[in-house]
Amino acid sequence: MRIRTFNIHGFANNDEILSSNGHLIARKFFSSKNASSYDKIVRLATFCKDSSWKREMVGFLDGKNKLILDLACGTGILSSFIRHESAQSNIIGTDLTFEYLKHAKNRHHYLLLTNSLAEFLPYKNDSFYVILSSYLAKYTEISAMVKEHWRVLRKGGIVIIHDFTYPENKIMKILWHTYFQILNQLGKIITSWRDAFSNLDKLIQRNQWVNNLVSELNMIGLSARSKKYYTCGTAAIVWAIK
Ligand SMILES: C[S@@+](CC[C@H](N)C(=O)[O-])C[C@H]1O[C@@H](n2cnc3c(N)ncnc32)[C@H](O)[C@@H]1O
Repeated sequence: MRIRTFNIHGFANNDEILSSNGHLIARKFFSSKNASSYDKIVRLATFCKDSSWKREMVGFLDGKNKLILDLACGTGILSSFIRHESAQSNIIGTDLTFEYLKHAKNRHHYLLLTNSLAEFLPYKNDSFYVILSSYLAKYTEISAMVKEHWRVLRKGGIVIIHDFTYPENKIMKILWHTYFQILNQLGKIITSWRDAFSNLDKLIQRNQWVNNLVSELNMIGLSARSKKYYTCGTAAIVWAIK
């Protein structure tokens, strides 16, 4: 199958961005314009919660020497946590955005880095003991991604998936919307992040990734063992085993 290339300037407005496929939205949000500021932005924009969510994720690892896939590794922040938790592991990183991979490469955590889509992975069947992803789920075609997880994961291997969620609590909803209004305004100043800052709330709000993911995982035979919400329901981690 051929991966289609497209013009990143080809969207007329925000509605057009959000009506695209997830990976096209991601191409609009993440590019050479903002790769160098990503690490700082994710830390500030999550009030440093990013680190505690990633620490929770790597808490599921058992520290043994294994082949681990950091799916949508971006600039490699999660891989640093994996390396810290499991010093002997071999990490393969992959991401859609080539400019982000260049930053990941500088962290020197990887056995291999590839430029690929989560829905079409360039790896052999039964390759990995663990697949982790942070902030990927809302950009993917969940069913295709889960099929690829199933294919490249070894028997007994685990999947750990984290992303933002829309809170259920009424007061949290008000705070959440206020926060994104501020982020939207910031996007007018920090123009390299404008598309992400002005569309991320709508993307999270309309996305039902947790429930979709759990049902797709269970359907394919990757039993979802835990689904946990963090930081007043603004993020979640799902883990499953093959
Ligand atoms: C918010 S960044 C997260 C990066 C990293 N996982 C982290 O936690 O810092 C989202 C990343 O997902 C990548 N991405 C989005 N959709 C993708 C897809 N369908 N396949 C592969 N990578 C994707 C983007 O290129 C971007 O680097």
